[in-house]
Amino acid sequence: MKLTHSRRIAAIVRAALLAAGFAVVLAAQPAAAAGSNNNGQQLYMLHCAGCHGISGISVVPDAKDFSRVELMAQPDQSLLNLIRSGRNMMPPYLGILSDQEIINVINHIRTLN
Ligand code: HEC
Repeated sequence: MKLTHSRRIAAIVRAALLAAGFAVVLAAQPAAAAGSNNNGQQLYMLHCAGCHGISGISVVPDAKDFSRVELMAQPDQSLLNLIRSGRNMMPPYLGILSDQEIINVINHIRTLN
């Protein structure tokens, strides 16, 4: 009886911690969106995270991680060109995202490492 009771309390504590975790994540969202990054993070989640991962660690075999220094050392313009035109498995975003939106996404990618 006593054991069952403490198990229930443990379950309630776990649920509360989980809820608190979600609250923190939700509270963090508007702050990120309101930053200098504009909509880059949302666009990244929508268009890129499926292959490049939420944190820039690729989930498909051929895509390189954005944490690689030599990749992100490229100027905005060459990343912009690549994202516009695509390469192999990487789809082209010309006509899907505006140049400004792509720049916002690049700014977001640069925060990932
Ligand atoms: C369908 C999966 C997929 C999606 C969606 C995708 N990518 Fe890629 N991306 C790849 C692959 C695969 C490569 C490697 C291409 C190659 O060199 O063969 C790549 C390469 C890149 C590179 C260049 C890496 C290098 O080697 O120089 C950048 C930058 C990049 N992606 C950004 C993005 C951005 C930004 C988005 C969203 C707007 C996006 N990708 C969406 C699969 C994807």
